[in-house]
Amino acid sequence: MVDKHNDQRKYTSLGLLLMTLGALILVPGALAVSDFPPVFNQKYGTVDTRIDASSCTICHEGAPVLNDYGKALNEAGVTPGSNDTELINGLTAIEQNDSDGDGFSNIVEINARFFPGNASDHPATTPNATPTVTATPNATETPTVTATPTVTTTPAAKKIKEISINKQIINIFEDVYSYFMKLSLPKSLNNFYQNSKPGTPSSEWVGEMFIMAGAFDGMIANMQEGDMVNANVSYNVFANEYKKVSNKVPSWKGYFDVSAVKKLGKDMNKNANESVISKDIAKVGATCEKCMGERTAQVWAKYYWRDFDTVNISGEVPWPDGMAMLAVNFGGIGANAAEGNQTSTNNSFNQFKVLYANVKVACYNCHDTPRLYYVSDDVFAKIDQMGTNITANNMTNVQAIQQELGIQCYRCHVLHWPAQDMKGKMK
Ligand code: HEC
Ligand code: HEC
Ligand code: HEC
Repeated sequence: MVDKHNDQRKYTSLGLLLMTLGALILVPGALAVSDFPPVFNQKYGTVDTRIDASSCTICHEGAPVLNDYGKALNEAGVTPGSNDTELINGLTAIEQNDSDGDGFSNIVEINARFFPGNASDHPATTPNATPTVTATPNATETPTVTATPTVTTTPAAKKIKEISINKQIINIFEDVYSYFMKLSLPKSLNNFYQNSKPGTPSSEWVGEMFIMAGAFDGMIANMQEGDMVNANVSYNVFANEYKKVSNKVPSWKGYFDVSAVKKLGKDMNKNANESVISKDIAKVGATCEKCMGERTAQVWAKYYWRDFDTVNISGEVPWPDGMAMLAVNFGGIGANAAEGNQTSTNNSFNQFKVLYANVKVACYNCHDTPRLYYVSDDVFAKIDQMGTNITANNMTNVQAIQQELGIQCYRCHVLHWPAQDMKGKMK
């Protein structure tokens, strides 16, 4: 379930990229298809509305499967090879039709920002009293509510407003998050990671941490043994190192609490009781934990993680593009199988199989030894089984196997994606 959802989300959110790849790489000669969303949006002013055509669902149930509106367009002569003018003519030709049969013509639905190819998405059928109008805090901002000739469009307008506000907020948070990720590691930290490469991570910073942590843990162990002489020796090593490190990265000075370390030293000297010293130690330890907790994952992503964007699949296709192609074909298997179209299922399948074999080889960009997961022999046996079922025209089995295979995509994603995402945002 989870993985299926994950893949579908990925698939639909790819928007224009998939479209471009689908058209450019997989169906040579069908260049015009990639213009459909922008042409539609321009004709109807639908950019950034809930029916923005770049999400494809205005015409597709899930590309390449057309919905009723897309089918009508297709019947009006729009094909993957159509140019902009042919598309515009096709769009105009079906404006007065009610392609999804929900009682509203395509143009009425488009103007009210509803989907003309989805019967369950349409303007309200009964003029309703819009009871919430008065409750809306900014109702006064919309003085035209009563002037609107058809009350039925009000809920739509509201819906659009809600969606666009949400979208703006999401965009702002995304930007702020990316901004902080970019700032999260100071430039001067680079000095400590000069020789670090993905695969052979190395860090002078971690070297300093080991000196510090070793002395700190040694001090605690000595105390537990009642060996205060050596505890003091360890303390001195620790305190010197702590002070030294606290000056290394200027913008990280706030993570260090040198006075807490001094207090610990003083309390040890005057043989303060155990509970005082424990509190001192906890206070110092908390400074280490805070810095590590807040910065480690970003350091790993920046200095240790190999960027998937620099890895190619089959020698020439950049990783993200390869994944997008994979997704188009993988999705195409399911969609075509659901339509019972054996030939196109087989086309998608053949492309998918070759690509996935290339993905397997691409693992070796980063791993020296074979990894058994996601691309293992049993996975490829399942892929072959899928081929056999396509040949036998057993589409129910094909769909079931497609979903099982999706789990492998998900598992590889859940492992590799988080660090990759973080790295991307830090660039
Ligand atoms: C290495 C294991 C791995 C496997 C196996 C894998 N992926 Fe990916 N995939 C990734 C990583 C890592 C990214 C993120 C790439 C990036 O952001 O640079 C990714 C990205 C994607 C994307 C987004 C592309 C983009 O625009 O950035 C899609 C879609 C995708 N994968 C689909 C699939 C499908 C479908 C399958 C299975 C048939 C699959 N992947 C198998 C690792 C994997
Ligand atoms: C304005 C309507 C419209 C929009 C928007 C649209 N498509 Fe299409 N698409 C069509 C029509 C019509 C066809 C032709 C179907 C046919 O001839 O069988 C088509 C065909 C396709 C095909 C099959 C290409 C081929 O050569 O068979 C793919 C894949 C596809 N679209 C993907 C997408 C994706 C992905 C998006 C969103 C980025 C998208 N489409 C947006 C109407 C649209
Ligand atoms: C861009 C580099 C990159 C690519 C490509 C890549 N991985 Fe990884 N993978 C990593 C890193 C980094 C780790 C973290 C641990 C390590 O270094 O092994 C990791 C960890 C793993 C792990 C968990 C640790 C282990 O060794 O068991 C598995 C399993 C794995 N990858 C499988 C794969 C498979 C299968 C592929 C190809 C489909 C693949 N990886 C492609 C970078 C990559």
